[in-house]
Amino acid sequence: MQKILIKGGTPLRGEVSITGAKNAALGILPATLLCRGECVLENVPHISDTKHYETMLTKLGSVITHNADGTMSVDTKDVSADNIYKIEEESTLMRASYYMIGALLGLFNDVKIPLPGGCDIGARPIDQHIKGFLALGATVDLRDGYIHAYTDKLVGSRVYFDVVSVGATINVMLAAVFAEGITTLENVAKEPHVVDVANFLNKAGAKIVGAGTDVIKITGVKKLNPVSYCVVADQITAGTYMIAAAATEGDVLIKNIIPEHLDSISAKIKEMGAEIIEFDDALRVIGHRPFNPTKLKTLPHPGFPTDLQQPMGVLMSIARGSSSITETIFENRFKYTDELRKMGANIIVAGNTAVFTGVEKLTACPIKATDLRAGAAMIIAALVADGTSEITGLEHIDRGYDNIVNNLKALGADIERIDD
Ligand code: UD1
Repeated sequence: MQKILIKGGTPLRGEVSITGAKNAALGILPATLLCRGECVLENVPHISDTKHYETMLTKLGSVITHNADGTMSVDTKDVSADNIYKIEEESTLMRASYYMIGALLGLFNDVKIPLPGGCDIGARPIDQHIKGFLALGATVDLRDGYIHAYTDKLVGSRVYFDVVSVGATINVMLAAVFAEGITTLENVAKEPHVVDVANFLNKAGAKIVGAGTDVIKITGVKKLNPVSYCVVADQITAGTYMIAAAATEGDVLIKNIIPEHLDSISAKIKEMGAEIIEFDDALRVIGHRPFNPTKLKTLPHPGFPTDLQQPMGVLMSIARGSSSITETIFENRFKYTDELRKMGANIIVAGNTAVFTGVEKLTACPIKATDLRAGAAMIIAALVADGTSEITGLEHIDRGYDNIVNNLKALGADIERIDD
């Protein structure tokens, strides 16, 4: 079994460069299917979720080349509907395989794959995705763990999403690119990765307006052209390093980012006492004890992202006094608090709120990443704890963090990954 060992207590110092956003890349990779030719993608993160997507695209008939300059070419001209059955295994391994439904429905008007897998952080239904496909004229059958969506032709329509969903927004956008007429999506997600997928599609010839606002309008086109595109920086990875820098009382320059995407995180970390210096495409975070207590509520963008509440829970565990997190997006995202309690944290969870009464220090012990962002929280907890912690469940961390062990090592952390 692989483990990460971290001897805590060293402040992180130096620079870290942020790679492309997982959640943007996972929308753009299936979007290349609609381009029927060779797209060249820059800044695709090296994580297991994008590798699963590469495998699925290859099984569908794409040719993927990793170029010497670090870009990835994806040639989708020979993709065939006859190959869809080949991607069954990967589609159960990850949540974001749901984008194959929108992309392949848009491309072939017919797709049948198993329902998606992914982190166990709550119910995670896809009813809003289905609502969108139905509105575009598709029939959707759910049977024996499969989703089958099909139609003679997709026709633009109006969809009001009952919840703000990143996945449903991107998925229905993918399906609507070729739908006849105009599709209007209301109450959509506004995350930077939603905007990035729309930017990719528009560069390829789609007609999408309004991404980043509450309403997206898509005018159907007949075809897209292959393009070169650079994936936007990962706001969640950047936020993770920001919290790690603050929690270890470090001084870290986080480069290649869009600071405005991190406004809600910067605001909260500042409130807790860290200093933040903003540059055009970088943020410097300097951490100081004592950390002030704070309250936060997770919300869709531009609110505080649910993906960073777990790392913030570590900072709150060692802040002065009482802090709280109210989780409004996923109901089961406090499993990591059990692990932090083993390290000496004082946390009480009641319903969707966790109350943290700060302790002077955390103490190292064997801990487990129970999901992707819980894994980030475990790493930060181990970085601040007294002694050497052993982290397992690395398959979760590998789904979303590109090169995190080496990056932290370069920032001075005493960290290594071992095969035990
Ligand atoms: C995406 C991100 C994930 C992030 C989450 C919230 C990807 C691949 N994953 O996940 O990292 O934590 O956004 O920012 O981009 N919901 C429904 N019905 C649906 C869809 C969603 O009720 O059909 C609910 C969910 O249960 C949740 C909320 O809507 O309570 C938001 O979920 P959503 O934004 O869809 O999250 P994901 O796309 O799964």
